[in-house]
Amino acid sequence: MRDFDENSITDAVLQRLAGAEDPRLRQVAQSLVKHLHAFVRDVEPSFEEWQTAISFLTRIGHMCDGKRQEFILLSDTLGVSMLVDAINHRMPEGATPTTVLGPFYVEGAPELPLGAEVAHAMKGEPLHASGRVMTAGGGPIAGAIVDIWHSDEDGFYDVQRVDQADANLRARFRTDSEGRFHFWTLTPTSYPVPDDGPVGELLRATGRHPMRPAHVHFMIAAPGHETLVTHVFVAGDPYLDSDAVFGVKQELIAEFAQNQPGQGPDGREMAGTWRKLNYDFALKRNG
Ligand code: BEZ
Ligand code: FE
Repeated sequence: MRDFDENSITDAVLQRLAGAEDPRLRQVAQSLVKHLHAFVRDVEPSFEEWQTAISFLTRIGHMCDGKRQEFILLSDTLGVSMLVDAINHRMPEGATPTTVLGPFYVEGAPELPLGAEVAHAMKGEPLHASGRVMTAGGGPIAGAIVDIWHSDEDGFYDVQRVDQADANLRARFRTDSEGRFHFWTLTPTSYPVPDDGPVGELLRATGRHPMRPAHVHFMIAAPGHETLVTHVFVAGDPYLDSDAVFGVKQELIAEFAQNQPGQGPDGREMAGTWRKLNYDFALKRNG
């Protein structure tokens, strides 16, 4: 076949893909072509605009390396990561909702004993975090691995700091026989997603800010359960309704209650104000 025109080109490409042996690949490739062609028909780009789009994606690729993943950031800021997350986590009643993993998770954070301090001597308001890990609709889970990570007072994760070789503001804990965990760290603050690349340009050009409301990331794993990837957000944060990556869910917002100086948990004498978070997680059973 030849002489394709504006109307016949889509069917021609779909037919060409019909021979793909893998049925899932055929479905995905054909759907991509249908939606891409529909997009081009809708937008009717000029050659210059199409070139700008190609150059935008090329610059996104060039920005990616072992530490920076600009394509994931594009997916996050266009709401695609949360859509994929929602489709893959249709949770039963009572299970803790999931949200995006984000680019700052690092495998193999140090395992610390319950009650340990996660922050290495940094400025910020101390936070005592505690809670329980349960089965949704069931009892406590002993021995669940609770992996936590969050940004510092300036809004940076340890991996973004060139001066920081060791893991900081990240750790793993194992729940006790009643499913409980507790640890000390610093109160997180809201921070911008990395906006010094093409995704940042797109945010600015579309009148959007790059901020995420303050949160602590949790990844909780236990045998017989789906691993839960989520955050707990600080109630009252000004960015809860405009998170740059659309990750906020009402159930994941908690009070990080401020306490006055004096006696704190674990017999700690607190010289300044400190905060307390208590949050229980419910994991979905496998299968
Ligand atoms: C984060 O919460 O760490 C994050 C999530 C998505 C994009 C950038 C950062
Ligand atoms: Fe984060």
